[in-house]
Amino acid sequence: MKLRMKSALQSDHDIIVIGSGAAGLTAALALAETRRVLVLAKGSLTGGSTAWAQGGIAAVLDAGDTFDNHVRDTMVAGAGLNDRETVEFVIERAPESIDRLIELGVPFNKDSGDLHLTREGGHSHRRIVHVDDATGWAVQEALLNAANASPNITMLAGRTAIDLITDRHRKTYSGAGHVWGVYALNEETGEVEAHIARATVLAAGGAGRCYLFSTAPRGATGDGIAMAWRAGARVSNMEMMQFHPTCLYNLEVKNFLITEAVRGEGGHLLHPETGHRFMADYDAERMELAPRDVVARAIDDQIKRYGLDYVHLDISHQPAEFVREHFPTIDEKLSSLGIDMTSQPIPVVPAQHYTCGGVVVGLDAATDLPGLWAAGECTESGLHGANRLASNSLLECFVYGEAAASDILAKWDSLPEPPTIREWDATRVSDSDEQVVIKQNWTEIRRFMWNYVGIVRTTKRLERAANRIDLLNKEVEDYYGSFVVTTDLIELRNLLQSAKLIVRSALARHESRGLHYTLDYPELDETPQDTVLIP
Ligand code: FAD
Ligand code: SIN
Repeated sequence: MKLRMKSALQSDHDIIVIGSGAAGLTAALALAETRRVLVLAKGSLTGGSTAWAQGGIAAVLDAGDTFDNHVRDTMVAGAGLNDRETVEFVIERAPESIDRLIELGVPFNKDSGDLHLTREGGHSHRRIVHVDDATGWAVQEALLNAANASPNITMLAGRTAIDLITDRHRKTYSGAGHVWGVYALNEETGEVEAHIARATVLAAGGAGRCYLFSTAPRGATGDGIAMAWRAGARVSNMEMMQFHPTCLYNLEVKNFLITEAVRGEGGHLLHPETGHRFMADYDAERMELAPRDVVARAIDDQIKRYGLDYVHLDISHQPAEFVREHFPTIDEKLSSLGIDMTSQPIPVVPAQHYTCGGVVVGLDAATDLPGLWAAGECTESGLHGANRLASNSLLECFVYGEAAASDILAKWDSLPEPPTIREWDATRVSDSDEQVVIKQNWTEIRRFMWNYVGIVRTTKRLERAANRIDLLNKEVEDYYGSFVVTTDLIELRNLLQSAKLIVRSALARHESRGLHYTLDYPELDETPQDTVLIP
């Protein structure tokens, strides 16, 4: 059956923000002081990674700590690939970001009147502010409350952005480049809406769901990165996929994170049969608090070397009250699965956790494309380098959300009015009668990415993945060109595009640095260099 999907042109707002997580809502709130902002989100407004964050937000707040310490820790974790100017820019703005969150009502934990600071891997000092072990939920709630209260912000959930509107979508084509908003699927009506504006902020999160095991939510399919790439923006360091060392190993609950703060508060990693504290064999100085790439590789090695399903994370030597007080959410979840973390070890495995690479942005959060700014996990700002330091990512969302807003407002008068845009054309597509193709391809991508492009890589495995991607690409593009768009199809296309960028970047790096570890190039190059892909 041929179907003409309804299309609507909408341009009631000055600025469009794609994503309602920490980055998107921070930008929206700052812009809404003077402009009308439309926030679009796929699924629910709380569907991004922000709501799932556990550990907290890194900020220098203790008298014994310094910005220099935080900068050094960030660059050590990032294996020298970080951009120092960016690192300083973000870290120096951390205390004011925390102040703003407190003003918005985030109830950070306190200790004798001061903010309680916990510790995580790679940090030389206690500097993580948090709300128990569910910091992200408190932050998401406070930002949403503030956005709801703003008369200048409209939030539309259930809108899956499909593609950025660029000059090629003008009624009369006049060269490529400028972004004028986004085509988005209304998930309820099936209508494709064209949301048009002078400025667009991309804050669509990471691409973690490219991997079979990931701590990230279902919607982390790299949509923002793929859309920006298709529109012509450069993408960088996509090979730097972060694996969190401690995801719960449970056959029913597949992606529950056990926060790094459990190790920060004294948790030990143990061989499940011998009880050996194995980090001593990999990083005797930093032990469980070595940076994530080191700990994740050590666990991966133990699992492969001894044929294990998991290793143990044990904090049962700490007083039960201390454990319950610090980790109430994890304690409740584990209790529901029959594990008492105050007296038993927790079975854990590494899982994909964070996308360090993404759309290239400057300190002003501007992308290569006029009219398009980007912030948060979908970007590569230079902060994380080859490996993100724990709890630096929410911080990046706040600093870059603000940076995007202030650059847009500063340039507002010089931003051109949008041209006339074509409606979405769905005259040549029909309803799919083979949804199984989407499910099959989605599973296949996640499985070969896990097996071939995981914690330890080889050129042969990467080439295998590249071959699989080429085959799937034809199938998915044919499918996309023939059938009516659905959120599942849009996500599959973006997942495949993200996988392609990850594999291409990994093949281009001929060294082992940070999160990119390959048996074919185990050494570190003398000069750190970003992997920059140009569309
Ligand atoms: P997200 O919060 O992921 O939001 C993305 C938004 O974009 C969502 O609203 C989503 O619906 C929307 N979106 C995506 N695609 C589309 C589309 N096609 N159309 C429309 N909308 C779309 N970091 C820390 O600093 N500290 C922590 O303690 C911490 N803990 C974590 C724990 C877990 C389990 C996970 C998964 C991550 C954790 N992180 C932590 C990382 C951090 O949570 C994320 O990097 C950060 O929240 C990303 O925010 P964001 O605004 O960029 O994207
Ligand atoms: C955690 O709580 O371990 C996650 C922190 C982070 O990803 O920054």
